Amino acid sequence: MCYAIPGKVIEIKDKSVIVEYFGEKRKALNEFVDLKIGDYIYAQGGYVISRVPEKEALETLEAWKDLFFELKKIDLKISERRFAEEGFSKEFIDLLNRAVGSDATTTSPAVNGQTGAPNLSRADLLYILNAQKPKELDAIYRAANFVRQKHLGNACCVHGIIEFSNYCINNCWYCGIRNDNQSIKRYRMEIDEIVEAMDMAVNKYGFKAMVLQSGEDPWYADEKLVELVKKIKEKCAVLLFISIGERSPETYTRLFEAGARGVLLRFETSNAALYEKLRPGKKLADRLAIIEHCYKLGYLILTGSIIGLPNQTADDLINDIELAKKLHAEMYTFGPLIPHHATPLKNTAFGNLDLSLKVIAATRFIDPNAKIVVTTALETLNPKEGQQQGLLAGANSLMINCTPKKYQPHYEIYPDKAGIKDPLEEKIEDTLALLKSLGRAPTDLGIT
Ligand code: 5AD
Ligand code: SF4
Repeated sequence: MCYAIPGKVIEIKDKSVIVEYFGEKRKALNEFVDLKIGDYIYAQGGYVISRVPEKEALETLEAWKDLFFELKKIDLKISERRFAEEGFSKEFIDLLNRAVGSDATTTSPAVNGQTGAPNLSRADLLYILNAQKPKELDAIYRAANFVRQKHLGNACCVHGIIEFSNYCINNCWYCGIRNDNQSIKRYRMEIDEIVEAMDMAVNKYGFKAMVLQSGEDPWYADEKLVELVKKIKEKCAVLLFISIGERSPETYTRLFEAGARGVLLRFETSNAALYEKLRPGKKLADRLAIIEHCYKLGYLILTGSIIGLPNQTADDLINDIELAKKLHAEMYTFGPLIPHHATPLKNTAFGNLDLSLKVIAATRFIDPNAKIVVTTALETLNPKEGQQQGLLAGANSLMINCTPKKYQPHYEIYPDKAGIKDPLEEKIEDTLALLKSLGRAPTDLGIT
């Protein structure tokens, strides 16, 4: 099982290398691998992850060659747009034109270097988030899908996630693993057990980018986490993201030095008053400071918010997207609230599916080159079609849960989480089949 296409190194300048894939050139940073021109490598998130033996690379490329171009054709066809003949008002067509950043009457996507949404005003974004008419929603999603295709082609990255502890010292109002919830069974995976799960995901199933997630759990002291990251980096060629909550700047510094290169930390909401209410004892500014510290250290930042929090407005959501952009999000993660019965938000309505898709689309317009993940929460709202809907509304990234099966049901940040019943092999197969049907290649070649 493979989530990357080998590229050939054609230029090396210090840590920066130019890699060629089927005639397309990409830049990547090389920190970990001994390389020379002509070598084949896997890259992920802009980092060289590993060298690939030439024979293996050539075989993989041969297997990919026809499919690669075939998938591109399918994607191009699905992402075509024809808005002019659909009977929309001139105002709405103009809005779509501003959203995609070029003339929306063309049916063939122009690769003309236009940068998309800088032309969108706040009023436009509000219109998008408040749109209700099914035909308008459909056109907004298709416009976002068009922008995604135009800027990033058919690349879709598939990350794995291992949830290694469901202990948490915090009491966020929305979260099922909050400290006060005594109705769930708590677990902590031992370091070697986590390494083993990682080894399986990377070396057996071929994941190239993995997230290590837990509640905020000080049981994993810095030394333990450093040992964990080092052990993983010794055994696995992987772009490693950590998602461990609000730890000290030193912790993040030490984990970077140990080899982690990404941080997943949502700011949850850009509305400071709402944040303070829903995260008792916490301040938004502190969270943002951690994210900024991590960015300065060189981490790739995955961040975003929850959609559908009580009293959250469309304005808040636009601020959320803009805040994530300001924080240099490498990948945006916006997902609907799924109320958990053992939390103070138990009577709050579910986050809205269309609103979640509109936030994905608006994010795509605001940052055309972004990675935007389809969250498990969105998938949970619509288990049959959520992933596909997200991918067709501007998203280009998926996560697969690689937590050992016996722990998965206990990482209950919300109930009935999608994907926890199926075996990992099946989830991988289903994901690849979905991507294939949409003409997406499970690589992240689009990011340079
Ligand atoms: N519904 C949706 N997302 C949630 N999260 C926590 N609880 C919920 C919920 N009930 C999200 C938070 C957190 C991430 C790990 O899960 O955004 O950062
Ligand atoms: Fe803990 Fe994160 Fe859940 Fe808050 S959202 S209770 S910090 S796991």
